[in-house]
Amino acid sequence: MLSFCKLLAVLPIVLAASAGPMVLHERRAAPPSGFIRQGAAPANEIITLHVALTSNNVAGLEERLRSASTPGSPDFRQWLSMNEVKAFSQPSAETVSAFNAFASANGLKPTVISPNGDWVAISLPVSQANKLFAAEFEVFTHPSLPGPITRTLSVSLPSELVGHVEVLDPTTAFVAGDVRPPPPASTIARDAPAASCDTSLATGVITPACLQELYGIPTAAATEESNVLLVTAYEDEFAQTADLAQFLTLLRPDIPPNTTFEVVSLNNGTNPQGPFEAGGEANLDIQYTMGIATGVPVQFLTVGGDSTVFPTNLLDTTTFLDGVPNPPTVMTTSYGRVESNFGASLATKICNGYMALGARGITVLFSSGDGGVRGNHDDPSICSNNTFLPIFPASCPFVTAVGSTIGFAPETAVNFTGGGFSNVFPTAFYQTAQVASFLETLPADFPGIFNTTGRAYPDVALQGWNFEIVANNETTLESGTSASTPSFASIISLINDRLIAAGKPVMGFINPLLFSTGSTAFTDITAGHNSGFVCPASSVAFDATTGWDPLTGLGTPVFSELLAVAMAA
Ligand SMILES: *[C@@H]1O[C@H](CO)[C@@H](O)[C@H](O)[C@H]1NC(C)=O
Ligand SMILES: *[C@@H]1O[C@H](CO)[C@@H](O)[C@H](O)[C@H]1NC(C)=O
Ligand SMILES: *[C@@H]1O[C@H](CO)[C@@H](O)[C@H](O)[C@H]1NC(C)=O
Ligand SMILES: *[C@@H]1O[C@H](CO)[C@@H](O)[C@H](O)[C@H]1NC(C)=O
Ligand SMILES: *[C@@H]1O[C@H](CO)[C@@H](O)[C@H](O)[C@H]1NC(C)=O
Ligand SMILES: *[C@@H]1O[C@H](CO)[C@@H](O)[C@H](O)[C@H]1NC(C)=O
Repeated sequence: MLSFCKLLAVLPIVLAASAGPMVLHERRAAPPSGFIRQGAAPANEIITLHVALTSNNVAGLEERLRSASTPGSPDFRQWLSMNEVKAFSQPSAETVSAFNAFASANGLKPTVISPNGDWVAISLPVSQANKLFAAEFEVFTHPSLPGPITRTLSVSLPSELVGHVEVLDPTTAFVAGDVRPPPPASTIARDAPAASCDTSLATGVITPACLQELYGIPTAAATEESNVLLVTAYEDEFAQTADLAQFLTLLRPDIPPNTTFEVVSLNNGTNPQGPFEAGGEANLDIQYTMGIATGVPVQFLTVGGDSTVFPTNLLDTTTFLDGVPNPPTVMTTSYGRVESNFGASLATKICNGYMALGARGITVLFSSGDGGVRGNHDDPSICSNNTFLPIFPASCPFVTAVGSTIGFAPETAVNFTGGGFSNVFPTAFYQTAQVASFLETLPADFPGIFNTTGRAYPDVALQGWNFEIVANNETTLESGTSASTPSFASIISLINDRLIAAGKPVMGFINPLLFSTGSTAFTDITAGHNSGFVCPASSVAFDATTGWDPLTGLGTPVFSELLAVAMAA
């Protein structure tokens, strides 16, 4: 009896192996620069692969999102429910049975790991993974990563899975950590600065009061309890409640200093409050949401795991929200990496996750990077390389990418503001006219090498230099698109508060509105050159110009006008 069962289990493996040819799914000629090969992964090591089963109707979901987000369409802002999105995102019965047949033929036990059923996990020895997917898993290290990663340069699918599997993760994605720190923070005296914005200074200190003055952001408290603003945190960045209280006391004395945020944990994420555990990024994001989105309930999503699992954590964030019936209305994220490191299939799947969140009525915002045209943070060794490096997720057409400005008279694009053109995603439907106009401004002999047919970012901008925060009980100045993004997100949250109070649906995916009727609600930023924070200003980069540009997008917001456009739509 036992041996009979064994025989049955073994037989299909032989059949599966001969069922059809392997079809190349994704490959790289070499690991991206900086990754060091450490030899083959041990054959008997068990690895867990996450398998994205093809969604049954991504095109249909995109069409619904396009319609729901375009002013004037009959279903404008008719955002979808959790189950309506699931109907588009889940795999077809045919796909599920094709994968299950493959799994059982090979003795694998897939577990469903996403509410929409589009992700399953399989655990298997490296030797079997190599054989089933024509892979060669190896161990790699990178100086920016805290530990080794197991990856393969090439992954194939048996022909019976082609069309049924979108991504195998982790396989060919090689995502490094942040190679360089963001523009430096500096400590300043506790009593600086003045309560309002000294716009007579070329580059003053930015505080909540200053942003309120510059962009006309109201100080009155929001009233709608359901209108949650979600701040995501990765890579052990923790937000300190004691620092927040100090920040509010100093810079928002009109808000009770014990006003706080709710911690939500994913993948065993924590938010320890010990001395010196404050993360500069997490504190900045929490202080400039709590400090600008007055009265809006803020959640801090702390996602466990270091930078070796960053791409998986981005995915897990989208699948987590797929299962929340009444999700936040705005999500702000100040993290990104070089797009090419993700690979097309993984970047597309993550981006489709943001598409699904947009369709639910969530505005998804990402910082556009702090390396100008050269990646998330520029690097002195590539200043004379004119092949520009777009960053992701900012390059996803379904997020709103936020760049940075500096100064007041006039407000200009700051040198590090990330901007460019995707090599994975085509020009987004809502931006074709503006992008074509920008491309016409480039001289015929422009030396920068970039993809003119790619999704162009950022979409908008806001101040990003010298933001005053409190970290580890010290008053410091922080700079970066990381500062601009939570501040812009807060503006959208305040507008959502007014929309809900007026009985209207929230803004949701905002780009089609911003690039059409909303474009007049921005101050056009027309000067600046995004050569990066460390690369010399003479390095090849884009220049800000009249209209949309890949430094400041449509420009910086005028609150009253954006509110009026949102209300009228
Ligand atoms: C904040 O402090 C006030 C005054 O001490 C108190 O009434 C209120 O309950 C506190 N709120 C929270 C959220 O702890
Ligand atoms: C979270 O912690 C539990 C208990 O230690 C563990 O079983 C689980 O694998 C952890 N999950 C992740 C994603 O690390
Ligand atoms: C310039 O950068 C691109 C993109 O990273 C890379 O492929 C190329 O090899 C670099 N060229 C030089 C001369 O380093
Ligand atoms: C340019 O972008 C398009 C998407 O618009 C993509 O299909 C194409 O492969 C990209 N070209 C290069 C050289 O990366
Ligand atoms: C924080 O700093 C202030 C003055 O700079 C000091 O009075 C206070 O005791 C400090 N708090 C903690 C918890 O160290
Ligand atoms: C970029 O701009 C910042 C802010 O003005 C400045 O401190 C920095 O020196 C500039 N970098 C370069 C390379 O000019």
